[in-house]
Amino acid sequence: MILPIVAYGDPVLKTKATNIDKDYPGLEELINNMWETMYHANGVGLAAPQVGKSIRLFMVDASPFDDEDPKLAGFKKVFINPVILEQWGKEWIFNEGCLSFPDLREDIYRLPNIRIKYFDENFTAHEDEFDGLSARIIQHEYDHVEGIVMVDRISPLKRRLIRNKLANISKGAVNPDYPMKYPLRKR
Ligand code: NI
Repeated sequence: MILPIVAYGDPVLKTKATNIDKDYPGLEELINNMWETMYHANGVGLAAPQVGKSIRLFMVDASPFDDEDPKLAGFKKVFINPVILEQWGKEWIFNEGCLSFPDLREDIYRLPNIRIKYFDENFTAHEDEFDGLSARIIQHEYDHVEGIVMVDRISPLKRRLIRNKLANISKGAVNPDYPMKYPLRKR
């Protein structure tokens, strides 16, 4: 089932999400629905707060970037209760998008290397290192479960310049080709 994606301005996107255990009701169905929702919207990542659930769960499918980095072919993972343990390297910039911000792309600086511990969809524990674009997508989705969105990582000046654009996203004055829930849409 395709779920509506929560637009910028909804408090759930500003809330630090909570850990879950393997008995979380409907977890398997939620994960399936989130994959379906993400692929329908042509996303490479989706976090539970973006479908209105304030829990520490996100997924990444970086395979669309396999032309830029062959090791991303088949890179498809679910992250539950993630903790980024370490980030290092030289800051690099990338033009990011986010399904909660239709029609907006922003240059965001992040560190290129991460070490993260998490559980997969079978609640098997992992501790892995990622770099480059896979790390980038994981950092973006991890931000979502921490209550941080893309525009929190741009300068206040830049944020002022796109103020109207952000207001339009919250009001629903945008036309994404996937269903969304807008916090300030007038009925
Ligand atoms: Ni996002």
